[in-house]
Amino acid sequence: MNPLLELTQVGIEFNTAKGSFRALQNVDLKIHKGEYISLIGHSGCGKSTVLNIVAGLLQATEGGVVLNGKEVNEPGPERAVVFQNHSLLPWLSAYENVELAVKQVFRGKKSKAEMKAWIEHNLELVHMTHAMHKRPDEISGGMKQRVGIARALAMEPQVLLMDEPFGALDALTRAHLQDSLMDIQKELNNTVIMITHDVDEAVLLSDRIVMMTNGPAATIGEILDIELERPRNRLQLADDPRYNHYRHQVLSFLYEKQRKTDDNPPATQTRDQAPDSTIIKERHDTRAINTPARQADARGPEQEKLNALKTA
Ligand SMILES: Nc1ncnc2c1ncn2[C@@H]1O[C@H](COP(=O)(O)OP(=O)(O)O)[C@@H](O)[C@H]1O
Ligand SMILES: [Mg+2]
Repeated sequence: MNPLLELTQVGIEFNTAKGSFRALQNVDLKIHKGEYISLIGHSGCGKSTVLNIVAGLLQATEGGVVLNGKEVNEPGPERAVVFQNHSLLPWLSAYENVELAVKQVFRGKKSKAEMKAWIEHNLELVHMTHAMHKRPDEISGGMKQRVGIARALAMEPQVLLMDEPFGALDALTRAHLQDSLMDIQKELNNTVIMITHDVDEAVLLSDRIVMMTNGPAATIGEILDIELERPRNRLQLADDPRYNHYRHQVLSFLYEKQRKTDDNPPATQTRDQAPDSTIIKERHDTRAINTPARQADARGPEQEKLNALKTA
């Protein structure tokens, strides 16, 4: 079977005030229809850049992206994007935000009544029926992300691209949304590329975890197949040796093979760069949901890293 999406020898160089900066090099990835792929790697390695190239928001300097046999060089509704911070229009209700995308994709193809039913169906998928006529400033962060996901799903994209969709949410909300997403995935079998900082999230949701090396000139270091049957249950998996083995593989990639030290800072800083400890901290947060026994003994970033490796 041909892959749905193919990245071939993708590289990109940015022109910066200090000269050119090579962010990515030789990125090769084939994704099949219905696959759920996570991209993981340290902050600033180039995950968003990969996603933005697939979205058509950035143009690769070398290589290219082919979706369904067609080269990607601009954004299109067949590639819907969900960002970390919802990008809803503040003056429109949840319903109207989804409607905007639905009209863009289905104008002339669905009747007015069909569009209404379709918008409501997608809001129902993310459990937002009760608040669909509220504006973004009237709903919580988690609800806004739900609307963002409904809007993306409602476009019936061939690929759903998500850049740390739950990164700004508290652990409990994040866990709820991960569960909703797994339910939706079971129903729709979307093809997904999701960037995450969270090792547990990656293992729980993915068919494959694509692990990126540190930049500059970042590339794919390893790809891990997650062969856990679905539906997946976070509580059962917490005690599953296979689940812990996968977590350990990812942690060892991030903190041994691609360990970041202070003498090895990223070449440039970006707004969304977070200290390494965030990654581990998030993992602890998620684990608080995943397992009843929370390891609350971390006393600082270094201790957290050690704990993470010990308990992995
Ligand atoms: N438009 C740009 N101009 C210059 N450098 C950029 C630009 N976008 C990203 N970069 C740099 O490319 C690298 C990868 O960034 P990014 O893809 O945002 O990383 P991640 O999403 O993994 O945190 C970083 O060093 C970042 O500073
Ligand atoms: Mg990013």
